Amino acid sequence: MKALKDISWLRKTASFFPSRIILTANNYRLFDVLEGRGRTAGALAKAASADTRGMELLLNSLVAIGLLEKEEGKYRNAPVASRYLVKGKPDYQGDILRHYDILWDNWSCLDLAVKTGRPQRKSGDHESFILGMHNLALQRVNKVVGSLDLKGVKTVLDLGGGPGTYSMGFARRKIAATLFDLPETLKISKKLIEDSGLGDRVRLLPGDFMKDDLGGPYDMIFISQILHAYGAKQCVSMLGKCRASLREGGRIVIQEFHLDETKTGPVQGALFAVNMLVNTPEGRTYTPAEMTSWLKKSGFEDRETKVIDETVLISGRKK
Ligand SMILES: C[S@@+](CC[C@H](N)C(=O)[O-])C[C@H]1O[C@@H](n2cnc3c(N)ncnc32)[C@H](O)[C@@H]1O
Repeated sequence: MKALKDISWLRKTASFFPSRIILTANNYRLFDVLEGRGRTAGALAKAASADTRGMELLLNSLVAIGLLEKEEGKYRNAPVASRYLVKGKPDYQGDILRHYDILWDNWSCLDLAVKTGRPQRKSGDHESFILGMHNLALQRVNKVVGSLDLKGVKTVLDLGGGPGTYSMGFARRKIAATLFDLPETLKISKKLIEDSGLGDRVRLLPGDFMKDDLGGPYDMIFISQILHAYGAKQCVSMLGKCRASLREGGRIVIQEFHLDETKTGPVQGALFAVNMLVNTPEGRTYTPAEMTSWLKKSGFEDRETKVIDETVLISGRKK
């Protein structure tokens, strides 16, 4: 990251103001209520059993941020809120906001996390976590799956695939996908997959990837946004387990937030490491060199690195 030339980042210290305002508006489902029609602060307060002054100040701040518009005392969604924050819209991001709201509690204990090195998990909500992963992955799935060399790939294991967004992306390309995840996650993904009409092309395999057999042999294993939750030793052991579940010549593809060799950028990768400090005992983001060395150690050759926006894909072929 570049050295600061002004105090822009220090000013951003108060960027929790807009964060908190948006999270609270999302919790009140204001964007759903305001879709397609203008309402006054009084009417919205009454409907939400909230204080009128509280609601009005919140609404005015949302206009300032650019998420709402105000005309003759009535508020309505601005186009960006209408596209991303109204439940049921294809680009909906409200679930990941609910997940960020949970993270807020844990991040509030960052002082203690730095002092102790221990996670500070005050809150948790599995449903918003998994649906939030779906919100995020939907924005990327076509680009990521479209960037992979899928020649000869007929079966893929989506390890820790969560909502199944990537499994569905593979299934749409006529590849038989196995979505391996914890039983409580698969309860949520099952509905998403059924709703997509791809139920016959995605197999759900419940299990704990630390303890259980992964099945196979598969032509490809896709392991997305998993390794950052673990320490290096566990990552190496997981990659070895993946190798055992691939056919000879099969490929593994790791997707993680991109962190360059300085470990100080890009910003998203460096900041996400702190999210892992707050939420996991040993996790952090990893550099391509770290992950590539684990692949080498675990018996993968023809290793490749590809950066796609804020994530990096590291792949290798089973020797
Ligand atoms: C950060 S999400 C990633 C989801 C998905 N791969 C993606 O990129 O959108 C991590 C996933 O790992 C799953 N998971 C965590 N621990 C697991 C375990 N021990 N066994 C199987 N799945 C696990 C979670 O349920 C969750 O779906």
